[in-house]
Amino acid sequence: MTVAKFTYLTAALLTAFSFNSSAQKSLPIIVNADKVTAKVQPTMWGVFFEDINMGADGGIYAELVKNRSFEFYSPLMGWSVKGKKITEGDVLILNRQQNPITNPNPRFLRANVKNADNRGDFSLTNEGFRGMGIKKGLNYNFSLMYRQAKPGVKMHLELLDEKGNVIGSTVFQPAESGTEWHKQGLSFAANATAPKGKFAIWMEGTGIIDLDMISLFPGDTWKQRPGGLRADMVQLLADMKPGFIRFPGGCIVEGRDLATRYPWKKTIGPVENRELNINRWNTEFKHRLTGDYFQTYGLGFFEYFQLAEDIGAEALPILNCGMACQFNTAELVPLDQLGPYVQDALDLVQFANGDVNTPWGKKRAEMGHPAPFNLKMMGVGNENWGPQYLERLKIFTDSLKAKYPEIKLVNSSGTDPNGDRFDFLNNNLRKNKADIIDEHYYRSPEWFLSNATRYDNYDRNGSKVFAGEYAAQSNGIASEKNQNNWQCALAEAAFMTGLERNAQVVNMASYAPLFAHADAWQWTPDMIWVDNLNVYGTPNYYVQKLYSLYKGTDVVDIKTGKKVVAGQDSLYASAVVDSKHNELIIKIVNASGKAQTRNLQVQSRHKMPATGILTSISTPNLKAVNSFDNAINVSPKDERMAVKGKTLAVAIKPYSFNVLRLPLIK
Ligand code: AHR
Repeated sequence: MTVAKFTYLTAALLTAFSFNSSAQKSLPIIVNADKVTAKVQPTMWGVFFEDINMGADGGIYAELVKNRSFEFYSPLMGWSVKGKKITEGDVLILNRQQNPITNPNPRFLRANVKNADNRGDFSLTNEGFRGMGIKKGLNYNFSLMYRQAKPGVKMHLELLDEKGNVIGSTVFQPAESGTEWHKQGLSFAANATAPKGKFAIWMEGTGIIDLDMISLFPGDTWKQRPGGLRADMVQLLADMKPGFIRFPGGCIVEGRDLATRYPWKKTIGPVENRELNINRWNTEFKHRLTGDYFQTYGLGFFEYFQLAEDIGAEALPILNCGMACQFNTAELVPLDQLGPYVQDALDLVQFANGDVNTPWGKKRAEMGHPAPFNLKMMGVGNENWGPQYLERLKIFTDSLKAKYPEIKLVNSSGTDPNGDRFDFLNNNLRKNKADIIDEHYYRSPEWFLSNATRYDNYDRNGSKVFAGEYAAQSNGIASEKNQNNWQCALAEAAFMTGLERNAQVVNMASYAPLFAHADAWQWTPDMIWVDNLNVYGTPNYYVQKLYSLYKGTDVVDIKTGKKVVAGQDSLYASAVVDSKHNELIIKIVNASGKAQTRNLQVQSRHKMPATGILTSISTPNLKAVNSFDNAINVSPKDERMAVKGKTLAVAIKPYSFNVLRLPLIK
């Protein structure tokens, strides 16, 4: 929907408000802090991770070398091989053996180097994922796998800036010779910053050397883990204190066909043994073709579990249910051949939780995590629909519940939050007493405003809801013109009051997608944008963060007159108590462009404090966005608010999202 339309709508509501526009004339908002209506699940607000928009490779997975193992469909994609002393046949891409089961990473590069003595004679240069972010003073960790049938080659490693200037260099001397493969590495520093640098290797000497897994990581990864994640990106997630992290998607779970579905078992163990897969977003959108998008699985299931643990989130893996994406090939695994898929799900529980003496628990321990990851839930299928989904889901559910009754299963309700497909699945899943139903909404800001009461009449005792993917679309669903603007974030904030109010039904929620690389995205809007060196949270990020940080433990009653606050005078509100910190937390959205002062009456057995903290995000400009240059243009600001007694006159700014925290004095 357009901004103009939104403005028109809110203006209409405003007219009604102006008629009655003083704190005295409007009905007060009454919060009964003693009337608990639901428990807030610790998992309530989480994050949805998918390798879309170069979110993993080229994004949070900090590897700087693109196509490090020459397994892309064009084996030299990302590389340029040059030199006066290279003649035909001196650089070959060879295959170790044909059997991908015993050798999932078969290709390597053979360099036959003859009398090379300077950079111009024989060099390999990698362009990175839209360049490489190189930081002055930082160490870079280089490693590779090699074997030398004919030793005699020394390698000069160089970091280059955009103009080709050398901004860091060292010499790498392969130590081993013979027909066996060896892994060796070293670290060296950059002496300048380059947002779109490159990495070059030039050869000196004479010899034949085979190269594979040519890798370069910055030294400042999250927790300084070798081969780890970009710390700045993880930090933004950690700052949210998310209740869960869903991974690895999204449609990537399904694949465009079954052959390219997400295969979790191939994503664990030594990185050099993880088999590359095409990324389904590579060719999904004609307007954003990304031919160099593959999945190396350097960020695999072990790393996802570790990330969840690091940021204090419950892990929520989603597995393929025997169906490829129904927008693409819609391939189906025949029911009598579903065994291996179900086994993958069973084995995943063992990988996460099993004793180190179990086959899959042992693999986890070998990767450095003998303690279980304490997996509690799992999704079966993403955005799958129709009777074919129900048939397959039943087979998964029967097996998983028989062996692991404690694991909660997340079921798909398809692609849309309404319509025939949704109704068919939702009715059947509820009849089948699904643990958790995953609902997705990519809709206009208006939809979010008018659906703030969506869950008010859902069955309190039936299946729980996971609002698994949502984002207001400023232009159209998945339109490349969509913006992460304040209009969208504000509409999401209003909708989220309804999720919070209905925490008895909605146990989990996550905005989607999570990350986008500014030079390599396919889908917008996205919660966090990055380039090679920087990262910023959108207004949507700050809305999500405030909900997550101030989720409280118990939902309490908040009304105006006898009604929930869901659009009257363009206001939306919900309230929780945090029983751990003895705090009443009130969230109020003003979706109109007019300042409003409302009386807020607090009913509580506790005394009121002298002051509260009001955290607000507001801007009169609904089109306002954040950017690399102005990362906190739309972001929260705190102010102390004097409190006298239990009736507060709250000044609510135009187009604002407000979180008021009031200590409850015993
Ligand atoms: O979030 C982007 C995509 O939207 C997800 O992969 C899919 O589940 C949904 O259609």
